[in-house]
Amino acid sequence: MRLVLVGPPGAGKGTQAQFLAAHFAIPHISTGDIFRANLKGNTALGIEAKKFMDKGELVPDSVTNDMVKDRLNQNDLGNGFLLDGYPRNVAQAEVLRAILAGKQTPLDAALELSVDHDEIVTRLSGRRSCSNCQRPFHVVNEKPAVAGICDSCGGALIQRDDDQAEVIKRRLEVYAEQTEPIISFYRNEGLLITISATGPVNEITDSAIAALSRVK
Ligand code: AP5
Repeated sequence: MRLVLVGPPGAGKGTQAQFLAAHFAIPHISTGDIFRANLKGNTALGIEAKKFMDKGELVPDSVTNDMVKDRLNQNDLGNGFLLDGYPRNVAQAEVLRAILAGKQTPLDAALELSVDHDEIVTRLSGRRSCSNCQRPFHVVNEKPAVAGICDSCGGALIQRDDDQAEVIKRRLEVYAEQTEPIISFYRNEGLLITISATGPVNEITDSAIAALSRVK
């Protein structure tokens, strides 16, 4: 399964990605997670990306496309992959299509997670993320078994720097201006599947798996 997850900030891409990647036995590739891991490691890439992430802006395509190309050249993609947070504009979607065409491994689907605006703001303002593995939790909706501790790896839960109200607002504007057009792009490619991403997490996972199983 070669899959792209599409949806606004807070739609639940990272939450669903962990279950979908496990179900289809494919790597979960999140550009946001890669940038944050680089930032934690104090690399030049991480320091550069932070300048944009802290403002809610996209990291420049020149940086992001090369990073994704490198990742897609690694040798763990025999079963496919799940891309989360990439592409994020039509230019990136075209680059991805070209990379995959070069490998004769086109996408199977672009799965859009659809959620309304008020729900997104509630989700992002209550999100806590693992400082180690980056798994998302929520102070009300997705509590960890032990407060402040990640269920998966025992890491400390923190609030992301870009989950402040002003930055959330800008991320949503950037999504509408730059990312939403990729929905039409994938609809025109015949790859778009849209599901409602409101309701219990496990029911959304089941509905995504059912929809994707009709594709492959
Ligand atoms: P990135 O890390 O990709 O952030 P994002 O797209 O804004 O998405 P989020 O991680 O905020 O949300 P999500 O949809 O994963 O939701 P989650 O599952 O956590 O990107 C961050 C930044 O990096 C960008 O702003 C940009 O600067 C840069 N960047 C990344 N990729 C780039 C690219 N390709 N090009 C350029 N720049 C790039 O869920 C959110 C919350 O809701 C959690 O608390 C969760 O527990 C809760 N929740 C989930 N599902 C449910 C549910 N069903 N019901 C109730 N609560 C739920």
